Amino acid sequence: MGMTDPEQSRRQFLAFLAASPLVAAAGFDRNAFARFIGESPDSPKRALGLAQHIAQQSAPQPPLITAAKDALDVFDFEPVAQQKIPIAHWGYLATGTDDDRTIQANREGFDRWALRARRLIDVSKIDASVSLFGTRYPTPIIINPVGSQKAFHPEGEIAVARAAKSQNHLQVLSTVATTSIEDAIAARGGPVWFQLYHQSDWAITRQIVQRAERAGAPAIVFTVDLLGGSNRETMIREARRDTRECIKCHLGGAPLPGISGRVDDRDNRRKPNLVGYEQQTPIMEVGTPTWEFIDRLKNATKMKVLIKGITTQEDAKLAVARGVDGLFVSNHGGRAENSMRATITSLPDVLLGAAGKIPVICDGGFRRGTDIFKAMALGATAIGIGRPYIWGLGAFGQEGVETVLAILRKEFEVVMKQSGTTSLAKITRDHITPR
Ligand SMILES: Cc1cc2nc3c(=O)[nH]c(=O)nc-3n(C[C@H](O)[C@H](O)[C@H](O)COP(=O)(O)O)c2cc1C
Repeated sequence: MGMTDPEQSRRQFLAFLAASPLVAAAGFDRNAFARFIGESPDSPKRALGLAQHIAQQSAPQPPLITAAKDALDVFDFEPVAQQKIPIAHWGYLATGTDDDRTIQANREGFDRWALRARRLIDVSKIDASVSLFGTRYPTPIIINPVGSQKAFHPEGEIAVARAAKSQNHLQVLSTVATTSIEDAIAARGGPVWFQLYHQSDWAITRQIVQRAERAGAPAIVFTVDLLGGSNRETMIREARRDTRECIKCHLGGAPLPGISGRVDDRDNRRKPNLVGYEQQTPIMEVGTPTWEFIDRLKNATKMKVLIKGITTQEDAKLAVARGVDGLFVSNHGGRAENSMRATITSLPDVLLGAAGKIPVICDGGFRRGTDIFKAMALGATAIGIGRPYIWGLGAFGQEGVETVLAILRKEFEVVMKQSGTTSLAKITRDHITPR
């Protein structure tokens, strides 16, 4: 560690002190403590935080799970995945924007709600199923689009599609997936929704949309929260720590398994949903998409058109007025603007604008059955998960994804039972209260 002996002893002492109940006691002089550990007395809170952080680091860590079946919750997969995934790819997964605080805000949002459980209701049988555009799924937990999944496991989206099949979940495939929409639907053995990032040439965007429709996707999810770009510092920092030569894989390197032939700098076969389109007269976008783009999208397809990244009632109203079929309340898992507004806080706002006319799906920070329950109680139609299933994928491939889905489903069903709710319709606003 390169630490001097006195420094090590000081840290050990601090760890001991921070773990002591004395620190939390009313008469404890936090200012003196701050001075002692070399922090300004103006920031005793920071000093305490630092000491607690040191204590956490010094505490013995439980061993990592070695099999998916040993996981107790979805968090158990995270350190295993981190260990297995290359640092730069981990940075891509873990990053938020700026100082990543909207990731934290998404989690903290759930803590602002408490459950109001009802008793003496027969909960021996419950039904957590949800119907989305005429298809019934046994659970409201949606596998959200996450790009480049072969960066986390060699089987990438195919492993996720197989898990979605075995557990019967709705999967949404990213435009920048490392698997084509055709292959994803084949592995899922049924329809997969397609998430759209528009291209600068509308003629290409239109072909992407029509290809998804031909492949059998019943819905397209247009993501609108990155149109202003995003500052992903964690991703950049982690990439700098990665000593591998990124260019070997990303540009001109060996093709992915199953792909043969020459690969050069312009080759985009690693993003198969972005290749294979006819050269047509380009129709270049002027500026970034506006509401008019939604009309164009709707005119280009018979698929349901949803918008992902809506956080206000104003935009929800505009979407309904434009004939949009559904919304994702989303801040891209804290990777869009650093809004500091949890999606669970945006949800009631958006629901007001949607006025019950279209399904509203919420994603961002869902890690527990109680989180899902709170969103359903506020009025969400379903919820989406991103990082948790990727932790499962990175840690143990398809089995990891299956286990993450099973854990969340089980946790949610237990909360339904504990709260006396036997179906999604029975989960109402009265089942939660602000804390
Ligand atoms: C690594 C990563 C890649 C993502 N790629 C996409 C994408 O291609 N398209 C998209 O609409 N959302 C993408 N998202 C956002 C997710 O769909 C989802 O909104 C978010 O992950 C939910 O938050 P959670 O990770 O806290 O569950 C991505 C998220 C992550 C973590």
